Parts: sequence; structure tokens; C-alpha cells
Amino acid sequence: MKIPAIKTTHKIIFGDSRHMDEIEDESVHLVVTSPPYPMIQIWDDLFKSLDERIRKKWEDLKQVKDEKERTVYQIYELMHEALLPVWKELYRVLIPGGIACINIGDATRKVNGIFRLFPNHSKIIEHFERIGFVTLPYILWKKPTNKPNAFLGSGFLPTNAYVTLDVEYILIFRKGRPRRFKPKDPYRYASKYTKEERDRWFSQIWDDIRGVRQNHSALARRTAAYPEEIPRRLIRMFSIIGDTVLDPFLGTGTTMKVAIELKRNSIGYEIDPNLESVIREKIGVNQRRIDNPFEVRFIHRDL
Ligand SMILES: C[S@@+](CC[C@H](N)C(=O)[O-])C[C@H]1O[C@@H](n2cnc3c(N)ncnc32)[C@H](O)[C@@H]1O
Repeated sequence: MKIPAIKTTHKIIFGDSRHMDEIEDESVHLVVTSPPYPMIQIWDDLFKSLDERIRKKWEDLKQVKDEKERTVYQIYELMHEALLPVWKELYRVLIPGGIACINIGDATRKVNGIFRLFPNHSKIIEHFERIGFVTLPYILWKKPTNKPNAFLGSGFLPTNAYVTLDVEYILIFRKGRPRRFKPKDPYRYASKYTKEERDRWFSQIWDDIRGVRQNHSALARRTAAYPEEIPRRLIRMFSIIGDTVLDPFLGTGTTMKVAIELKRNSIGYEIDPNLESVIREKIGVNQRRIDNPFEVRFIHRDL
């Protein structure tokens, strides 16, 4: 179906997405994002900067004697509490029937001398349900491993080896009932996927996505970008041409890059202003595209 040419707009806000005052209520159609993962070491400092109590609890862990277990659990809880205001903002800004896709991995870590699992995906489901989101079936993204026989434990002897984490979750939530469209909406028809795409994308295990080529700077690498194919599929599955896609944890700008390519408008929040040059490069700010015109605005909020 033919649709008129559209020019999309893209806004990057350098600021904390726990408040998204720049976005009106019920104005976003889809959220695609990957937050910093609680209890994964590369994000420890970020969580400490988000909540002073987290910094203090890590300090306490070195001192306390009998309360170590409780302190570990409190740190984990506080990290999820630091993400909660963002999840609440998503509920406010999404349209009725709008969808949020959250890429998250669980964490394994030895704390207080004991190796354990921190099941981040279940905490996030719990929080989204408490806010009022409807939980939908999720996707397991099976990451290719360069160590197919990786295991953690003691050779071939039972009983103390551990299962390797080799999937991440793409959790899917909706605000209320399914979205409604006007009959024969031309943008919806122009956005359709093929049977082959549908069969592959709507199956629960995605094991055909290759990792990201890490040819970026150290800064970009630390941001743990996801492969473009993740937002590419999700945006085509859950939005139509001309919609607005939000990423509250923009990182290197992968979601925005793909939103531009797929003729969706987008908004991204990123707390680290040092990522600006990485984002500019990734989304190709200065490239004029006659067949796909777009406009990008960078906003620096006081951090
Ligand atoms: C896992 S990375 C996202 C990677 C991204 N999907 C990509 O492909 O590049 C999480 C990002 O969220 C940012 N961040 C963490 N807390 C934030 C907050 N409260 N507000 C805005 N950005 C935040 C971090 O600085 C980091 O760049």
C-alpha cells in the first residue's frame, strides 16, 4: 500500500530518565531498551551514583559480620528500586495498548564467598506488574558463545557445578488492552512483515542473532550495546511507520539508528554525555538521505 513520504524526528536528551518531563503523557507507541543490569560488575559504579544507599551498602558489606546475606540482598533490591522510577515513567508516556520491550540478563556473582544467581528478569516482571502493565510471553535471546562447553564447577564430578547463563530475556509488556487502529490504516499495511519473518520472530527462542562487532572505542564497548537486529525485529513487530519509539537507556544509540532506518520517530535518554560522539557516529547525524529524510535534536539537560 502506498503511503505519503514522511520526515521523521529524533530527540536525544542527555539526562536521567527517572524523570522524562520532556515527554507528554500517552505520546509514545513503543519502548525498546536495555537497562544497566543489576549485580553485573560493570554497572556497580553507575548504580552507586544513582542511589547513595547503594554505595553505603557496598561499604557496609566489607564491615558487617552476621548481616552479610541480608546486605547482599538489600543491594540487589536497591538496584532494582533505582530502575523502578523509569518503569513508572514508561507507563505514563505510553499510549493505551503501547508496548515495552526490555532486554535484560540475569547475573551470577560470588558475593560473601557464595556463588549465586540474581534473577533480574523476574524482579523486573514483578515491578512491571505492580505498576499495572500486562505481561506478555517473552523471548529468550540465546547468545552465540565462543566457549560452547563453558561450565563453572569442578571438572566432571557431581554435585557442585553450575549451569552457564547463555540466554538473555526480552520481556514484553503492554499498557492495557491491545492497541486499536482505524480500518485499513495505510501505515499499518505498509509496515507488515512476511510469513517467514513472522514465523521466525514470534517464536520464543531467538538463536539466530549474531553478537555485535566490537570495533568501537573503549567507551562504546563498556556500554554493552545490543546487536541492531534486536531493535530491528522488535520495532517491526510492535510498531508501525510514523510511530514514536522511546529508549530510556540509549547507550550508543542502537535503537535510534534502527528507528531512523525503519521510518519511526524516536526519543532517547542517556545519562552519560560522553556518549554523544558515539551516538552521532552511529546514527549518521550528518548523512543526508533523500529517500528517508530525518531530523535529529540533541538536548543537554542539567545533569
Ligand atoms: C546497557 S546500556 C544500553 C546499551 C544500548 N542498548 C546500546 O545498544 O548501545 C545502558 C545505558 O543506560 C544509561 N543509563 C543508566 N541509567 C540511566 C538513567 N537513569 N537515565 C539515563 N540513562 C541511564 C547508561 O549510561 C548506559 O549507557
